Amino acid sequence: MFIRDMSFVVNERQVDPFLDKMLLDWYDRNRRVLPWRALAGQKADPYRVWLSEIMLQQTGVKTVIPYFDAFTARFPTVENMARAERDEVLRLWAGLGYYSRARNLHACAVEVVERHGGRFPDSVDALLKLPGIGAYTAGAIASIAFDRRVVAVDGNVERVLSRVYQVEEAMPKARPMITRLAEALVPERAGDFAQSLMDLGATICTPKNPVCAVCPWTNACGARKAGTMLEYPKKLAKKAKVMRYGAAFVVRRADGAVLIGTRAEKGLLGGMVEVPNSAWTVESVEAFAPPLHAEWRHCGSVDHVFTHFPLRLEVYAAEVGMKVKAPAPYRWSSPNGPDGEALPTLFRKVLGASGPFDTRFQRGSG
Ligand code: ADE
Repeated sequence: MFIRDMSFVVNERQVDPFLDKMLLDWYDRNRRVLPWRALAGQKADPYRVWLSEIMLQQTGVKTVIPYFDAFTARFPTVENMARAERDEVLRLWAGLGYYSRARNLHACAVEVVERHGGRFPDSVDALLKLPGIGAYTAGAIASIAFDRRVVAVDGNVERVLSRVYQVEEAMPKARPMITRLAEALVPERAGDFAQSLMDLGATICTPKNPVCAVCPWTNACGARKAGTMLEYPKKLAKKAKVMRYGAAFVVRRADGAVLIGTRAEKGLLGGMVEVPNSAWTVESVEAFAPPLHAEWRHCGSVDHVFTHFPLRLEVYAAEVGMKVKAPAPYRWSSPNGPDGEALPTLFRKVLGASGPFDTRFQRGSG
């Protein structure tokens, strides 16, 4: 099936028959040591591969490592994760962003245990049926964990191959073509090949400063020959993102507890913990309805960038006595504050901006 002794043509593009070998030789000398990655010659653990690939969607390796370590310490196996409460998974995930990943993570662990006897399926088709697993992740798990000869095309692979083959079509329309170009290259060592492309994209064929002089594909790269590396991958002009505005309210009780709630299941930051906050609107609003009557201080604002819009929240803070009941639908956190809760980065920033606890309100002040 795979022609290895002559150059061949995919999409009218000549494919160098030695590209895979050049890349694998480079990988054998330069592979990164990562906590989810098997050492050379060893088999990868599908659970760790799955967990890392979900975490690495939209998130860099450096950020992911401490989360991966915390998750695998708490949940050494998929069974451990499936048995845990979903809320514990959300709490451990807090700060990583894109929280639908955490909700799907738990749902997927449960399904792997209940329907697959605790073993991840090894085919792309079966993997695609699991919660939170799309084409990229299915390809990554099938290749890295099971050496299936399939590809995992993410932004790194798009960049590398669009440069090598000077793909003029813009993303994301060019993805099917790039997938075919990648498929034409996949060798027997499919898992190492997938990871070598990831490493090449992350360390050499980078978006802004590609280090072409040390790239194993430098002589085969069309963009390098033309000096146009930074023009690839071609992209359509981005839609401008419209800022949204709102307010957040930090209420501290005299014992240190903070007023918190749980966000709706569906939608942005679904199922995560929040402090009371207003609707987020494209028009800046002058007056907000706080969750309770108190002496409110304005503590400035925090900015946060979501995928589809930037947000500015004005932060207000107040202290209240021990007798104040949490107004529905809110509750009091523990006296240590909400740090141990599934509190996303946005609301961590809000707490940070809300300033130190007002010492007029000491423990037990009523
Ligand atoms: N980015 C996405 N998946 C990765 C992996 N398995 N190793 C390194 N970087 C990655």
